[in-house]
Formats: sequence, C-alpha cells, structure tokens
Amino acid sequence: MPKGISLEVNKVVDDIVEMIKDSLKLGSNKVIGLDIGLSSIKACVVDKSGKNNFKLTRFATVSLPEAALIEDEIQKEEEIVEAIEKVIGRLKTKLGNVCMGMSGPNTVARKLQLAGGTNDEIAEQVSWEAEQYLPFELEESSMAFHNLGENDGGGVDVLVCAVRKDILLNFKELVENSGLKVKIVDLNVTAIINVFELVMGEKLDDPDQSWLILDLGAQKTSFIIYKGNKVQFVKEMNIGGVMITEEIQRQMGVNYEEAEDLKNNGDENGNLPEEILEIIDDVVESFFSEIKKTIDFYISSTSDESLVGCLLTGGGALVPGLIEGLEALLGVDVTVLNPFEAIEYDEKTVHEDMINDIAYRGVCAIGLGMREYR
Ligand SMILES: Nc1ncnc2c1ncn2[C@@H]1O[C@H](COP(=O)(O)OP(=O)(O)OP(=O)(O)O)[C@@H](O)[C@H]1O
Ligand SMILES: [Mg+2]
Repeated sequence: MPKGISLEVNKVVDDIVEMIKDSLKLGSNKVIGLDIGLSSIKACVVDKSGKNNFKLTRFATVSLPEAALIEDEIQKEEEIVEAIEKVIGRLKTKLGNVCMGMSGPNTVARKLQLAGGTNDEIAEQVSWEAEQYLPFELEESSMAFHNLGENDGGGVDVLVCAVRKDILLNFKELVENSGLKVKIVDLNVTAIINVFELVMGEKLDDPDQSWLILDLGAQKTSFIIYKGNKVQFVKEMNIGGVMITEEIQRQMGVNYEEAEDLKNNGDENGNLPEEILEIIDDVVESFFSEIKKTIDFYISSTSDESLVGCLLTGGGALVPGLIEGLEALLGVDVTVLNPFEAIEYDEKTVHEDMINDIAYRGVCAIGLGMREYR
C-alpha cells in the first residue's frame, strides 16, 4: 500500500469534525490526486480494489502560463485557481477531496538513522534530529515520518518529510479557493516513490542493488536513490525543461508559448530545427554535469557504488538525447518509469491518445491519487 506520509494538514487546520462526518459516507475517503507543477496542473482519480490493485479512472491536465509559480512562490494566483477549476471540470468527477503534492525548497525528505523504540520514542528522536537539518524552524513546519524498518546497526531507518507551514497553507488556500477540500498533503517525491515501488515490485528486494529515480520537471529535478526496499537519499536539483525553453526564447527571440511549442512539437512537419537541437544539447550538458555532481556527492558520502539502473519520469524525459546521454553518464540502463506496467486504466474515460503523456508526466499525480484518507 502507498506509504502513509501525510503531512499534518489536519493538525494545522481544524477540520477534524468534517473528516469524521465524511468518513461515514461509503467510498468518500477517495481523493483526487493534484500535482501543481510549474508547466501544468495534473489531476487524476485512481480506484483501488484490494492491495496493490489500482486503476486510473480519470486524468486531466491544464497548462499554466509562464512563471505562474517561481519555485513555491505563487505569482499568478488567479490564473492558477482558474487552471485548477478547469482541470477539475475536465476530470468530470463528483469527488471534491484532494491529496495535494508539495515540492520545492521549503520541503524536505530525508532518511534518518535513529536508535528506535516505541512510536513515541521514535517521534521524539525525529523532532530532536530534525532541528539540526531542517532549513526552517521546527515550529514553523509540518512534519511526518514513516518507519522504514530496522537497519544493520540495530536501530531503525525513518523517512522524514516536512514542509514549511506557511507555504503549505498558501497552497491549501489556493486549492480551496477552487472549491476543493485538501484532505491529505504528501510530498511529490513520496508520491513518485509509491508508484516506483508498485512498478518495480520484487526487483527492489535485492539489498545490494541501488536505483536512481529522476523526475525531470520543468523547473526542478528530483533525485532519489533507492536501495534494499528503502529510500536512501533525496535531493531536489535546480535543473528542468524550462531552462531549455528560456534559452530558445533568448536565442530565437520568441515568447514562452512559442518556445515551448517549438521545443515540444518542432516545426510544421514535426521536426526539431537544427538550432533548437543545438540549444537542447547545450542545456542538457549542464543537466548532466549537475546530475554527475549529485551522484558523486552521494557516492562519496555513502560509499555506495551499487547503482544498477535509472528510472526516469517527468516531461524532461522526452528531451531528445537525454536517455542516451544519461546512460553514457551513469553506465547503467535508463528507462522511463511507466505507471501502466502496474496500474490499469479505464479505456472508457482515459483515452488511448493521452496514455503516452500520462506515462511521462502523470506519475506524481497518480501517486497522489493512490492515497486515501482515514
Ligand atoms: N516532447 C517534449 N520534448 C521536450 N521537452 C518536453 C516535451 N514535452 C514536455 N516537455 C517539457 O517537460 C516539462 C514539463 O514536464 P512536467 O510536466 O513533468 O513538469 P512540471 O511538473 O510542470 O514541473 P515541475 O515538476 O518542475 O514543477 C516542460 O519543461 C516541457 O517543456
Ligand atoms: Mg512535476
């Protein structure tokens, strides 16, 4: 089942009574998965029947205008609210409760090695340790942790997730201004990890094999190392597809929409002009050097050299030459994390021509949609 990393939204806001009321209604613990990305908003509904049995029944996406968000700062509130309303309209669902994903510089996902003990003792150790590495004050944050199990040292490994509370509340308000109710808050990285675990299954059992997951988005890339059924390391890198778009805008004197269109769809024949390919190559080189730095940092700080494969998601995975270049850089197979290897979809409501786009850009929303609240 999806890992229960729910940030403490219900402690931050007083809607517990509503939750109890809602939980009396059959099936009402379902949520819409909502991923507010820089380039677009993705929303979906995932049906669950039994353990690890998921079916995507609704999916929709709406593009955002240029710089609607800068990192996690909401720049164009009205446009984002409008886009959320539009995406929910397209979903054609009666559901109004949401699992919202958070990411950005005011979020943290980190594995800690703790002494262990009862749940309360672990919670205390988490708070104690968290003070030392959170980039914001503990009192200003909303935090949750998931016990990953015992480690070799006789203690426990714990995945701690935190968001700065004011940022969380800003996003919650944004979503609720669109007429929805935020019931669960998760991190985008944990949502992606939940899909990754589902897709990879037993392949992840070997304790001596580590995997790299990259979510190459528009404004950032999540870098996740996973080994022995545990998340080991998470870092958000400041590289993403919009860097290519900006370079096309700058060099070719076109606006954001035109540059996006040129990059994603090519010319009138669907080919990428030589000029664009050159720009892509240059920017992608800078991606590779950032990824190399991060992997070198991981290896030097953990001595883990057991990488066996890399799974890619996010629209950036569509950038020409990226997969081949990454394979050369990492020396392992690089494949796209295809959610449909493990999740069915309803052919009546999720059209075949959307499947490819969802496979690349919908993983985070699907991971969020897999959650349910109690
Ligand atoms: N065919 C394509 N070729 C190159 N790039 C593409 C293609 N399709 C989409 N992209 C790029 O992928 C990016 C969008 O990916 P994605 O939807 O994963 O990002 P996001 O979730 O909106 O952003 P973030 O996660 O950084 O907030 C954009 O920069 C877009 O231009
Ligand atoms: Mg994204």
